[in-house]
This record gives sequence, structure tokens and C-alpha cells, in this order.
Amino acid sequence: MPAPPTPDILALRGRVVTFRDNPFTTDPVAALHHEEDGLIIIRDGRIAQMGTYADTLRHLPADTQVTHYPDCVISAGFVDTHVHYPQLPMIAAYGEQLLEWLERYTFPTESRFRDPAYARDIARRFLAGLLRCGTTTAAVFCTVHPQSVEAFFSESERLNTLMIAGKVLMDRNAPPDLRDTAQRGYDESLALMTRWHGRGRQMYAVTPRFAPTSSEEQLKLAGALLARDQTVFMQTHLAENLDEVAWVRSLFPARRSYLDVYAHAGLVRPRAIMGHAIHVDEPDLMTCHDSGCALAHCPTSNLFLGSGSFRLFDALDPRRPVRVGLGTDIGAGTSLSQLQSLNEAYKVAQGTGRRLHPAQAFWLATAGGARALHLDHRIGTIAPGMEADLCILDPEATPLQALRAQSCDSISDLLFSLMMLGDDRSIRATYVAGRRVHERA
Ligand code: GUN
Ligand code: ZN
Repeated sequence: MPAPPTPDILALRGRVVTFRDNPFTTDPVAALHHEEDGLIIIRDGRIAQMGTYADTLRHLPADTQVTHYPDCVISAGFVDTHVHYPQLPMIAAYGEQLLEWLERYTFPTESRFRDPAYARDIARRFLAGLLRCGTTTAAVFCTVHPQSVEAFFSESERLNTLMIAGKVLMDRNAPPDLRDTAQRGYDESLALMTRWHGRGRQMYAVTPRFAPTSSEEQLKLAGALLARDQTVFMQTHLAENLDEVAWVRSLFPARRSYLDVYAHAGLVRPRAIMGHAIHVDEPDLMTCHDSGCALAHCPTSNLFLGSGSFRLFDALDPRRPVRVGLGTDIGAGTSLSQLQSLNEAYKVAQGTGRRLHPAQAFWLATAGGARALHLDHRIGTIAPGMEADLCILDPEATPLQALRAQSCDSISDLLFSLMMLGDDRSIRATYVAGRRVHERA
């Protein structure tokens, strides 16, 4: 009988930061778990041990190399709960708010994804860009073209990243070359879902762009797709902009609210992710709480398009907490870095009179994002059994950050300096299922 293969073992040493609790429902500092000199042992892509270096070293086979990141912080990889890979080339498009921005910049860019070679090139750049920023999981909009989904999942499979993605459904109020029909959208989505959902680490999301670009019939068929498999995701946009909300009211006069349009079609459920949700009311938030769907807070995008302020602490109200993750929303968002998203999330919270503690911020970008996606049993924290998706953060990546780090007297303050001053330069390395996939030059 052949010998069983020797397990692939990896050991990382540094300042480990993770969560044992939810910092929005308990004391943030107590929820944050910190090992000043920690050791993580990874076996076959999963975390086998995590603890102090002194205690955990005895679990390591004698000849295993330890990769030491002195002065760096080891965190779970970041989770981006709302992003459009095809919009990478049109990031930073000048002058418009949502509906005009879509017409003028977004739709022409998305038209280019008819070409599979172009789709492959952008998918490659996008995934490399995410890993460079320490993001290891994302919920990703492709375009209406099935080949855009094929290109994305193929590259993600090559990298072994845990990704959620789907073909955009749009059968009205869009240029003719970007429209499908209700039936064609259903058929193409079903074929992609059958091919990719649960293949390795890839997962499918039924992806109606937003209510204005789908007929009732298309939304109903999106619901029918989801009814086939409880483990499939759903992603869309919700109440981002006031003109959009008024448009939805005129298109669906029978529905109580924008969210109710989706609920009526069977789209509001666990593993549904609603981007933005700025202009929602209390009954909507209650529906989100009861249903287990998630909201994606996209602060850089909301500020860029002048969409409004997401009320994070209202959404997370412990009396009826809603699952919330953090999204970059490229290309309305202005950075692939979740550190930059946290920078702006902090300022948006300030503008609503609330204080976003650094432990709460890092939870949103890791464990909270994983929980929003119902993936917290696999990713988002550093603990035995979890998949080893990690990022190594360097708090002294620039002269200014090095200066600021000198006055840090706690791990919370160090994390705060990282989220306010950090970006892709702060990511020393990124690991996906225990394999290093990015290393800063
Ligand atoms: N609403 C509908 N489509 C989009 C999009 O591509 N980006 C953003 N930010 N909002 C949308
Ligand atoms: Zn979006």
C-alpha cells in the first residue's frame, strides 16, 4: 500500500490578532484576541494550532521552518462583501452620481467583457490586486456575459481563493448589448451555477444587478434559481441613491419598500447580500434581521458617488442586529484596500455621531464579513480547523506610519494607525489556504 502523503506544514510567527467574540455586542477590547508573540501552525491548508510561540512550538515537527514576521500583525484575510471586478479599469470616473455614472461609464466598460480574452486579463489583475491588499474572499459581480464569470472563476480556481461570483441579470433599462431576457438569464445562471458552485473553493451568487434593470419576471426567476439550492448566494444593490429609490417606487408601486421588491421575489434570505442599504427604514432592517440576509457597507463608494451615509450602528443595533460586511464596491469605490474602506467607515461613523472602535473595524473586515456571508465556520478568524487565509500587516510600511507606530501603546491603537494610514503597502504577505500568494517587493 502506498504511504499516505506527508502533510504540508507551515509555521508563521508574529503578533497574531483575531476575534473570540463580537466587538459590537461585548467590550471591543475583550472581544479582540491578541498574541504578542504568536505561532500559527498550518497543516494541509488549515490552521492546526495557534497560541503563544513559547507554548505552541512543541507541536511543530522538529525540522519545520518557521517564517517569522517580527513587528508585523498576522490577521485573518480580509473579506470584501461587495465588489465589481469588471469595473476595475473605470475606477475614479469623474463627476456623476449613481444613475448617470452607470450610463456614462459603467455600461460602456462592462460591454467590453463580451471578449473572453479581455475578461481574463481584468480578472487576473483584479484578483492579484485583491491579494496585494490582503483580501482573500470577495462577493463579486461579473457582467451579463457568461464568459465574464468563466474568466473570473477560472483565475480564482488557479489561485485557490474562496470566491463568490455570478453573472449579472439585466433584462431592461440597460443598453441592448448588456441585456439578457428573463429566460436566458435563468438558463445561463443555472448552467454557471451547476458548473461552478462548490467546485473547489468557488461559490455561485445569483446576481440581479438591481430592481430597475430587472423585470418582475426576471426577479421571480432569480428566486426560482435560489429555491433550487439553499447554499447558493444572492447579491444585488439596495437603496443606494435617492433618485434610484424614487425610480424603484415608480417601477414597483405595489411594493411597500425597495427591499420588499426583493422579498416578494424570494430573494431576501440567508446568503443574500444587499449592497449599500443607505435609504432603508426600521421595518426593512427588521426584515433583514429576521431573514438572515446581509448588508454590505461600502463607504469609499458612498462618499465618491455622494450617495449618503450608511447607519452602521443602527443596522447592528443589538436588539435586532443585521449581518453587516464591508465592501469596496470597485469601481464606484476608490480603493481595493479594506484598510482604506475602514478609514472611510470611521469617518462616516463620525459623521453620524458614532465611534467605530478599531477592534470593531477589523472585525467587520474579517470575522464580521465572514459571518455576513454565513462562512464564519470556514474563514474570518484564526483558530484550529479554520481555512488558512491570512494577511501579514506591516504597521511601519511608510516613514509616516513608522513615526506614528512609535506612539502606539496598545494593539488597538496599532490597528487604528493601520486602518487610518494603511493601504496595499501595509500588506507584507498574503496566504491563501496555507500558500503564500502575495509578497511585497
Ligand atoms: N447599482 C446598480 N449597479 C450598480 C453598480 O455597478 N455600482 C454601484 N455602486 N451601484 C449600482
Ligand atoms: Zn455595487
